[in-house]
Amino acid sequence: MDKIVSLCKRRGIILPGSEIYGGLANTWDYGPYGVEIKNNIKNFWWNEFVQKREDMVGLDSAILMNPKVWEASGHVTSFSDPLMDCKSCKERIRGDKLIEENISVEAAAGKSNDEILEIIEKEQLKCPNCGKCDFTKPRAFNLMFKTYQGVVEGESTEVFLRPETAQGIFVNFKNVVQTTRKKIPFGIGQIGKAFRNEITPGNFTYRTREFEQMEIEYFIEEKDATKYFDMWKELSWNWFKDLGMDEKSLRIREHTDKELSHYSSMTVDIEYKFPFGWGELEGIAYRGCYDLSQHIDHSKEDLQYFDQERNIRYIPHVIEPSMGVERTMLCFLLNSYKEEEVKGEKRVVLSLSPKLAPVKAAILPLSKKEPLNLKSFELYKNIQKHYNAEYDETGSIGKRYRRQDEIGTPYCITYDFDTEEDKKVTIRDRDTMDQERIPLENVIEYLKDKLGSNC
Ligand code: GAP
Repeated sequence: MDKIVSLCKRRGIILPGSEIYGGLANTWDYGPYGVEIKNNIKNFWWNEFVQKREDMVGLDSAILMNPKVWEASGHVTSFSDPLMDCKSCKERIRGDKLIEENISVEAAAGKSNDEILEIIEKEQLKCPNCGKCDFTKPRAFNLMFKTYQGVVEGESTEVFLRPETAQGIFVNFKNVVQTTRKKIPFGIGQIGKAFRNEITPGNFTYRTREFEQMEIEYFIEEKDATKYFDMWKELSWNWFKDLGMDEKSLRIREHTDKELSHYSSMTVDIEYKFPFGWGELEGIAYRGCYDLSQHIDHSKEDLQYFDQERNIRYIPHVIEPSMGVERTMLCFLLNSYKEEEVKGEKRVVLSLSPKLAPVKAAILPLSKKEPLNLKSFELYKNIQKHYNAEYDETGSIGKRYRRQDEIGTPYCITYDFDTEEDKKVTIRDRDTMDQERIPLENVIEYLKDKLGSNC
């Protein structure tokens, strides 16, 4: 993990937030290459799960919602973590996490605050900061960020930053059915920011207070729940695989009854083997008809689905695949980081899928001088019409290759002195480091052939 953090800082992929002011607890900014990788992840997700499917549509709902939404969804009463203070060093910790990390996820699942304290004291679990076992009783700490809307602060103007994008989908269910005339089964996908006042953010970008989710609410008939739950499990797994994820680093973990969220009767997590242990990348939950029923109760709107063919009305059930963008990016960075020795020197390479690579091709003139620089810049401008490309004329060619390897650029194109004569350039493959001589006029076709059109 340290190597990834340092590479991300060195190459402007992920940077500490507000750094010139000393930072702000585990906030991160995505630099020029980082934002490209993040956008590639989101685009690929949107393309695969929304645009390419006839049973899906997209949505972009507001972050600030009527506070009644969060009462209906159960977040006001149930979206909390057990917060404890270490009496010795005043460190604030999550009681359930202390048990999960020292005993097991199952041991912590579904425990009351009293039971959490009992386990911690019985097992003499230690404060990660000072090593003592002397804690206050856990109290429920709601994770939603509160803010005020308008110019007067007070209860009537209190709003929350959404802790999940899902509720924006549920409250728009009727609008979407009416405007698209979609028939069940169908889903609504959304990508957007979510906020949680996590007690212990950390492990780089794994747990932060501001993050992005890629969520789908897939509306079905109750009788089809298992069929579509399995379908989304498989589609999600394949999505990671298609982006080059090593399957040995992934696993599917079923939630035990005690672990299940208040809304779910069947949930699995797709987990990645992070350097700090297995961690959730994506949750796939069967939410039943909980959310729509709650919104019917609280808003008094009729959110039932009308099946015209059968002339029946019912509240649809829901399968929800929900993924975090930052966690997904972190696991792809970890999955692709390699150190190799080449001619006695260390080479750091990100063997990212070309679909995720921030730069698809780098154009490197062998000399900064005319006409090589002008001609290669022209080639760069031409490639840029098709793919995100970079022009780099500074430093030795070896150094420039290394710079591109570190950010995962699949192809480096060298424009040299012979190019003027034979009208050919050298294309170097990131992974094999093999070089090919290609006619200038064929470069775009070559890249299209290698990278495909959806890169
Ligand atoms: N709508 C369901 C839902 O929000 P969740 O399991 O709480 O479910 C879904 O969150 C995904 O969002 C997680 O699998 C994870 O990838 C991401 N996520 C959740 N909390 C996060 C945090 N504090 N920092 C980064 N990503 C987070």
